[in-house]
Parts: sequence; C-alpha cells; structure tokens
Amino acid sequence: MKENKPHGSFHFSSRTDHFVLPTQWASMRIAKEKEKRTGKRIIHFEKGDYQGPDFDTPEHLLKETIKAIKDGCVRYNPGSGIDELRQAIADKYTKERNRPTSPEEVIVTAGAKHSLTMNLLTFLDDGDEVIFPNPGYPPDEVWAKFSKAVIKHAPLTKGDWQLDIKKLEQLITPRTKLIIINTPQRPNGQLVNNLEEIAEMLERHPHVMVISDEIFSEITYGKPHKSISMLPGMRERTIIIDTFSKTWAMTGWRIGWTVAPAPVIEKLNIFLQDSITNVAEFIQKAAYAALTGPQDWVLHKKELLLKKRNMMVKGLNQIKGVKCDYPDGTFYVLADITGTGLNSQEFTDRLLERANVAVVAGTAFGTEGEGYVRITFACPDEDIKEGLDRMKAVDLS
Ligand SMILES: Cc1ncc(COP(=O)(O)O)c(C=O)c1O
Repeated sequence: MKENKPHGSFHFSSRTDHFVLPTQWASMRIAKEKEKRTGKRIIHFEKGDYQGPDFDTPEHLLKETIKAIKDGCVRYNPGSGIDELRQAIADKYTKERNRPTSPEEVIVTAGAKHSLTMNLLTFLDDGDEVIFPNPGYPPDEVWAKFSKAVIKHAPLTKGDWQLDIKKLEQLITPRTKLIIINTPQRPNGQLVNNLEEIAEMLERHPHVMVISDEIFSEITYGKPHKSISMLPGMRERTIIIDTFSKTWAMTGWRIGWTVAPAPVIEKLNIFLQDSITNVAEFIQKAAYAALTGPQDWVLHKKELLLKKRNMMVKGLNQIKGVKCDYPDGTFYVLADITGTGLNSQEFTDRLLERANVAVVAGTAFGTEGEGYVRITFACPDEDIKEGLDRMKAVDLS
C-alpha cells in the first residue's frame, strides 16, 4: 500500500498532488497584488470577464432576483433545476436548433466549469484517456488528473487554430473515453470549422463521447456557431455545456446548463444533489428571466463587443512585433508576439512591469500557446485605448 505523503502536518489525498491555483489567472493575481502595493492604475486585459458599466446586469434581472428572494426562493431545492428553467432551456434547443429536446435532457449547473468537473469525474476511470485541445482550457484538466486518467493533447494548427483530423485520430485508442471540443474556442476565439470531418472520423470510433463546450455560442461576429451534436450520429454521443456567464454577462452568478442524453443527465443529477444540492433557486429564477425576457440587451452587448473587438485588433496590429487576427467569437484575441523576440511569459511580465498592462501568457493555455498572449476586449473603450497606447509606447527590449 502507498504510504501517505505528508504535506506539513496534513495528509492530503495524493489525488490532489497536482493542485495549483489556475494558471490562466496568475496574471490577474499578480496584477491585483501590484495594484494594491503600488496604487498604480493597471489596465486589465487579462481578465476572462466583463468589466465596466457597458456590461452592468440588466435591470429586469436584478428585479427578478430580488422578487424571488422576497418570495422565499431561498430554501433547499434539490434536483436538476426548477421545472420552468429546464423547460425553457429545452424549448430553446427545440426552437433554435430544430432539435426536439425534452427537460429530461437538461440539467442546470453552477456554471460551465461545474459541469465540466462533474462530467470528467463521472466518466473517467483510472487509465482512461481524454483528449484536450492545446491550447485549451487547463482548469478542465485538473479533474481528469484527479481521476487518474491519461491526458492527451491535440495540437491546434498555429494561426488558424484548427484540429488536424489525422493527428486527432492518431490519439484515439480503445481507452479513449472523451474528446473535449470548445467552439468558439478559448483562448483563440476562432470557431472550429471542421466539425463535419471530426464527426465523420468519430464514426470509426463509436466508443468515444464528445464534451462540446459551447459557452460562447451566442457571441460570434458574423459566422454562425455550429454544434457537433447536430451532425449525424452525434446527438447520443455529445454532452453540450453552456452557461449564463457569457451571453447574459452573469459570470459571478454561477449558473449554466448541460444538455445530454437523459441517462447522462440522471447521473449528473445524483452528482449535483450529492455535492452542492442545488443551484440557488433565486439565481435560477433570474436565469429563467434572462432566457425568456427581452433580448435587446444581449443584442446591444454583442454590438458593443464587435466594436471593441475591431478597436483592439486594429490597435494591436499597429504595435511593432505584434500580429493579431480577428476572432470569430468570444471576447478574447490571441495575439502573436513572436516579432518582439520575447517569449510569452517575458512579454507578459515586462508589459506589466513597464506599462502596467496585464495580459495572459499563451503558455497558460498549453505549450502551443508559446509566442502568443491572450487579451480580453470586454472592457471599457477608454481602457482599450489607454492599454493600446501604453503598449505602443513601451520599450520591452
Ligand atoms: C473553456 C471554458 N470553460 C468554462 C468556463 C467557465 O464558465 P462558467 O463561468 O460558466 O463556469 C470558461 C470561462 O471563461 C471557459 O473559457
């Protein structure tokens, strides 16, 4: 038997040996600390969140939340979600995706990350294999490691950030249980444009399930989002993960949903009830109002994001050594900084140190992120302008 490894005087489970604070938030932690220590104004291009009054929570959601609290929606309410919200999510899929969906195929979760956690812990056994994109979203990998699964990385082709079908297929073995696809992709913002080929290839590997992370499905700028679950043979093999965080700027509310075959939802429901019991009912009421109420705020927010995206990309391309493509969706760009002669971490560190602008090194999202930095444009226009001016003026050599 393996001896417990002491950590100080605590004998933690060895399954947690790999635990580190999320790498993609390291810049945020450092920037916050610098801000506190020096009092200097830092431009926060590193946050994976909305900033500023452009994205204040819409009034009708605040009212609905307060009403729900006053109405007494403050007790335990174990289960997959309140009926009306599950029904509304099912209706959304039936209507918008022409995919007849029942509430039994829907669970309300405490955000996308919570769902990813539950799914990885529910599906993976020791030695199972799971394929993640690289660059991708490292927090997802924590629970695969916890499950003692083998993590394989499918490198995206640099620049256009697409999955190479041949390389992806070479990674599949009889032990492969899951493939994670996120579209529009984090951290690069591009849509996966070869879903049909991926689905065709997966016909040869019927034992593999797909987790389709679609949390930015409604934030695209022209090209429509597509879900692999809509392709022939894929519906029964796909777990769709979505959230209220991005479309309705409800990042701190911690609420999302998952659509999957009913037996998967049944299992996740047990996981959810045995862990967090339920997502707060008054939050679910607000989410219901978000989904079924007026959508003009969402449309307005998308127009703002499009303007901010264009401002950011144009500005970045005017900076010596930096190149940047227009992302198809999300509120991030992954800018190529190889022309500066610095690596991702050097660029990130020097920019914060010398210009008080925080970004995230591409390597926080995987080895293939080397040579890139992730920059958020969901911030006030003045911050985008100021941040770009500082980046133009600073000498990083
Ligand atoms: C790939 C990915 N999954 C999950 C999340 C978290 O979403 P949520 O706020 O719904 O937990 C994020 C947040 O940016 C993300 O980029």
